[in-house]
Amino acid sequence: MRVFLLVTFFSMLLQANGETIYKNKCSSCHKPYISMEKLKENFIKFNNTKLKLKAPTLNQLSHRLKIMIGDGFEDKDVHEFEVKEFIKDYAYNPTEDKKLCHKKVLEAFKTMHSMKGKITEAELSEVSKYIYDYEELVRKKHASKDEWFEVFVTKAKKEKKYILVEAEADDCYYCKKMKKETLSTKEVKEYLEKNFIVVPINVSKKELPAGLSYSFTPTFFFLDSDKKVINTVPGFWDKKEFLEILQSVKKGDKK
Ligand code: HEC
Repeated sequence: MRVFLLVTFFSMLLQANGETIYKNKCSSCHKPYISMEKLKENFIKFNNTKLKLKAPTLNQLSHRLKIMIGDGFEDKDVHEFEVKEFIKDYAYNPTEDKKLCHKKVLEAFKTMHSMKGKITEAELSEVSKYIYDYEELVRKKHASKDEWFEVFVTKAKKEKKYILVEAEADDCYYCKKMKKETLSTKEVKEYLEKNFIVVPINVSKKELPAGLSYSFTPTFFFLDSDKKVINTVPGFWDKKEFLEILQSVKKGDKK
């Protein structure tokens, strides 16, 4: 018990520290949370003339870097390590060719200045962890309780299954391809039926539940029955790859 409290205390300290470092060293340019809808409108429709941001927001960074780094197969610790290494490297040596943010977003900004001499490696480690965790932090905070979705959550709890939220859209070639070549195969269908509650959402018509946000369609979000995101995988996957992803979620060791 005492050890547990101590660990909780230190991890709280660490988070507070990461947040403080962010506020002191990054927040003059990187604003905290702005909803994805507003961001999309700002960058795609208004070329950043509406919000006049100085840099991508923190939720944008957190979401984008996590999606772009890794291949969806590595475990959470490895993924977290890779994303943190990227942030540390970028803060000291930012260059054009490393950038991972959306093209439309990057068009609005000049490359950031190196933070060499302005932040220590230890501080960077902590702020990188804060950025990595940020998406999940705000997702929980901003997730409204959609009653229709709670029905699936209750069902998942009762049947001891995971939830798969599929974000698809009108006129999405890879969504159709995925449906035809992967999701409708016998093996995938059976595996899904046995272990997952599947919730397809057409994002052209409806918002995603549980505060989830996406960059591309299709995107597959795997949640446990406490609505914790275990893995997010965008794009097309063939039958073999997708089954591997499903199995790794079931094993419970994924990001
Ligand atoms: C003076 C303004 C400014 C400050 C301070 C600043 N940044 Fe940035 N940052 C930017 C801008 C502008 C961009 C977008 C252009 C680019 O990618 O270089 C950016 C982009 C980034 C990217 C993503 C690049 C990509 O597209 O992959 C990371 C990671 C990042 N910043 C980390 C940090 C961290 C960590 C801090 C604080 C320790 C910080 N920045 C402080 C201006 C700033």
